[in-house]
Amino acid sequence: MSKNISRRSFLQTSAMAAGAAMVAGPLFSTSANAAEPKKAKKKVAATDKLNIAAVGIGGRGAADINAMDSQNIVALCDCDWKYAAHEFERFPNAKRFKDYREMFDKIGNEFDAVIVGTADHTHACIAAQALAMGKHVYCEKPLTHTVYETRLLTNLAKANGLATQMGNQGASLNSTRQIIEAIQSGVIGEVRKVDAFTDRPIWPQGLETPAKADPIPDTLDWDIFIGPAKYRDFNSIYHPWNWRGWWDFGTGALGDMACHILQPVVDALKLGYPVSCQGSSTNLMIDCAPNAQIVKFKFPARDNMPKVAMPECEVTWYDGGLKPEFPKGWPVGVNMNHSGGAAIFYGTKDVLVCGCYGTNPWLLSGKPLPAPSVTREVADQNHQMDFVRACKESKENRVACKSDFQFAGPLNEMVVMGVLAVRLQGLNRELAWDGKNMKFTNIGPTETIQFKVKDGFSVHDGHPTFEDKYTDPINAQAFAAELIKHTYREGYSLPAMPF
Ligand SMILES: NC(=O)c1ccc[n+]([C@@H]2O[C@H](COP(=O)([O-])OP(=O)(O)OC[C@H]3O[C@@H](n4cnc5c(N)ncnc54)[C@H](O)[C@@H]3O)[C@@H](O)[C@H]2O)c1
Repeated sequence: MSKNISRRSFLQTSAMAAGAAMVAGPLFSTSANAAEPKKAKKKVAATDKLNIAAVGIGGRGAADINAMDSQNIVALCDCDWKYAAHEFERFPNAKRFKDYREMFDKIGNEFDAVIVGTADHTHACIAAQALAMGKHVYCEKPLTHTVYETRLLTNLAKANGLATQMGNQGASLNSTRQIIEAIQSGVIGEVRKVDAFTDRPIWPQGLETPAKADPIPDTLDWDIFIGPAKYRDFNSIYHPWNWRGWWDFGTGALGDMACHILQPVVDALKLGYPVSCQGSSTNLMIDCAPNAQIVKFKFPARDNMPKVAMPECEVTWYDGGLKPEFPKGWPVGVNMNHSGGAAIFYGTKDVLVCGCYGTNPWLLSGKPLPAPSVTREVADQNHQMDFVRACKESKENRVACKSDFQFAGPLNEMVVMGVLAVRLQGLNRELAWDGKNMKFTNIGPTETIQFKVKDGFSVHDGHPTFEDKYTDPINAQAFAAELIKHTYREGYSLPAMPF
C-alpha cells in the first residue's frame, strides 16, 4: 500500500510543481481532487478559522498545534500512536493517519496549512509535497536535513506564493528585533567576528551503530519513521527524541540549536552564503554525531547598510560543552550560557551578547541597548499565531513571517552545510563552498575518505591499544554530493525544483 500511495503522491507533486505558478490562494479549497492545481480562492477573513493538518505530533509538534488550537485542527498524522496519543485525545474530531502520503491523498482538499514536527530527515518530503499542493507550511527547525532540500522548499514556497514559517520561535521575539536594529544602526560598529555556542547535546552521541535490533513497539510504524532514509532495524536508541544524534535522521547539536542561536546573527548581519567552512570534533563515527564540535564559517563582505558597513565576517560555532573564549572585559563570574547557549558579536565599537533564541541581549560596555522601534513587532511575540495571520492574508498583501522560508532557507542552508564540515573533517582542509551551486569546490574527483565504525580502544598489560575499525575508502566527492542532495528510498520523492 505504501508504494501505491507514494506513486500517486509522486505523480501529484510532480504535476503540481510543474503548475506551480498557477497555484494561488489555496485557503478553503473546494477542489475534490488534491492533484488539481488550485485556482485563486476567496481570501480568508482574519476571523475565519484556518484548517490545519499536522504531521509528527508527539513532541514539539504538539506544542505547535496547541499554540494554534484556536484554529480547526482537522487532521493529525503520526507514525507512533502511543507517543502521540495525548494529541489524538486532545482533538478527538481530527482525522487520524500514520502515513502523511495517505493523508495528502485522501483528504488533501480538507486543509489549508500543514505543521511539520517529525524527525529532521522527513521534514523536506512532507513540506515539499504540502507546498506543491498549495498548502501553507509551518515546519520545525532545522527546516530540512540537506542543503538541496532547503533550496527546494524556499523556491517552492516562493513560486506558489505561500505563507511559511520555520519553527525557530526566537525570531518573533522583541529581543531579537532589538539585536537586529542595534547592529544595523551601527551601535557596536562593524562586525567581523561572531562566536556562538550551545550546551547541547543533552542526548546520547558519539556512539557505535547498534549491533542488534530491538522489537518494534506495536504502536510504532517504523517503516514510516524511516521514510526516505536507508532502511535500518529499529533500536530504542533512535525513537523517540534521540534520533537527533544519528546522521540519517538528525543533525546533531549544530542542526538542533543553530537555527535558534544563529538566527539573529544571520538576520542582523545579512550573512547569505558562506564561502568556506572548517569543522572539527571529538570522536567521529560513521553513523552518529560527535559529542562536541567546532565549526568555523567565513562570509564575504556584503552590501553596506545605511548606518554600518558589512565587511567579511567569521562565525565560529561550539557545542558539547565547549565555549568560546571570554571577550576582553567579560564580567567575572557571569555565565555565558543563557537558555541553552549564546551568540557574541564583536563590533569595532562594542560587543553585543545574547542568549539562545536571541534572548537577553546586552552590551559588554554596560551601555543600554536602544529599544526596537523600526522592525515589525509580532503580536504577543507569538511565532505560531503569526504564521496563522500570514496564512489568512492574500498573496499580494501578505506580510512575511519572521522566519518565512525566504529568510529561514539561507540560514538553514548554512547550518546543514556546517554539519557537513564536521562529517568531512577527514579531508583535512578548509572546505570551499559555492552556495549558489550547492557544492564544495576543493574536493577532487578521485579523493577518498574513511569513517570509523568501531571504537576499539582498550588497555592491555598497561598499554593503550587501538583496534579501531574503519570503512573502506569512499569517494569523497560522491559522498559529499549525497549529503548535499540525498537519494531517497523507493516510495519517496521530491517535486522538481521550480527555478
Ligand atoms: N522549536 C523548538 O524549540 C523545538 C523543540 C524541540 C524540537 N524541535 C524540532 O521538532 C522536530 C521534532 O522533534 P521532537 O523533539 O518533537 O521529536 P520527538 O521524537 O519527540 O517527536 C517526533 C514525533 O514525530 C513522529 N514522527 C517521526 N517521524 C514521522 C513520520 N515520518 N511520519 C509521522 N510521524 C512521525 C514521532 O512518532 C513523534 O511523535 C525536530 O525537527 C526538532 O528539531 C523544535
